[in-house]
Amino acid sequence: MKIGVYPGSFDPATYGHLDIIKRASQLVDYLIVGVLNNVRKKPLLTVEERIKLLQDITEDLDNVSVEAFSGLLVDFVKEKNANIIIRGLRAVTDFEYELQMAQVNQSLDKNIETIFLATSVQYSFLSSSLVKEIAKFGGNVDSLVPQKVSDYMKKKYI
Ligand code: PNS
Repeated sequence: MKIGVYPGSFDPATYGHLDIIKRASQLVDYLIVGVLNNVRKKPLLTVEERIKLLQDITEDLDNVSVEAFSGLLVDFVKEKNANIIIRGLRAVTDFEYELQMAQVNQSLDKNIETIFLATSVQYSFLSSSLVKEIAKFGGNVDSLVPQKVSDYMKKKYI
């Protein structure tokens, strides 16, 4: 059984993330979306909120689950009996950081492979930070994030 992990902060999940989740779930038997619970990073949404939103938007995907992780990604991947990490690449600007991360993870565990999926063109400009910035100033994020996330962001910024 091929188990993959798609890790990230997902603060909040966007249509870009959902696109990668859907496509990655076709490539592996089972996909775990790993939500980083990092106390040092100051996310807008709690890890519970981020997980709930991801669960809501992936409820129709049978082979996808969402879990929190903290500490090293490779430890979480091993704990889940997975050996594939999935990451999306939006543009060349992502590449340096993503390559570095993949190589660090490879040096920590040579049995874990990172697979990059090219972000679909219509989401190539999209990021969670951008969504937060727009939502903070009352802008409409309906075209950037799934409806449930958009509704939640509106409540968060009222
Ligand atoms: O959505 P993000 O913030 O770009 O995701 C980054 C993430 C969560 C994949 C990365 O920060 C991570 O894997 N953190 C866990 C700590 C770790 O394993 N670090 C070593 C590899 S850089």
